[in-house]
Amino acid sequence: MAVEQAIQETKLVADEAVRVVDDAVANLGASADQLIAILQQVQRTMGYLPRAALRRIAEALDMPFMQVFQVATFYKAFSLEPRGRRVISVCTGTACHVRQSPLILEALERKLGIEVGQTTDDGEFTLLKVGCLGACALGPVIDVNGAVFGQMTVAKAEKLPDQLLKEDHRGTQK
Ligand code: FES
Repeated sequence: MAVEQAIQETKLVADEAVRVVDDAVANLGASADQLIAILQQVQRTMGYLPRAALRRIAEALDMPFMQVFQVATFYKAFSLEPRGRRVISVCTGTACHVRQSPLILEALERKLGIEVGQTTDDGEFTLLKVGCLGACALGPVIDVNGAVFGQMTVAKAEKLPDQLLKEDHRGTQK
């Protein structure tokens, strides 16, 4: 039963990937020059780049699959695995590093029970480390889905996941 369910889910993802890629190609054009823009649009829509999407892009642009795969794995902004609803990115650029961002990262790993690059089992959080986010004056800095949290401390970082969950809960009650 579990296997059947997994097959069914894989098929649903593949069907959606084909639809999303076809939309992106229709919007942006079936040209190799548009490869990165198409990958960006698919990732924005699906949250990541399933293999089925990469295969469809290769077909649509008449490119070898390996070439599409290499571009998708070269850029850190792209993910080939599903990400959590909230992506917590801890800046480890120089300015944040000297202000203890590695300790903040460790605190989040402990709090979430995952390592950098992983997603919590409930799909709520993905934890990443990133280079300079361009807000060094506010360091140490964390980005959550594009929102910047500055002057982080270990204590604040430990509270952040619960705080985000609570805010979300309040948001759904409005
Ligand atoms: S080094 Fe962290 S924002 Fe620049």
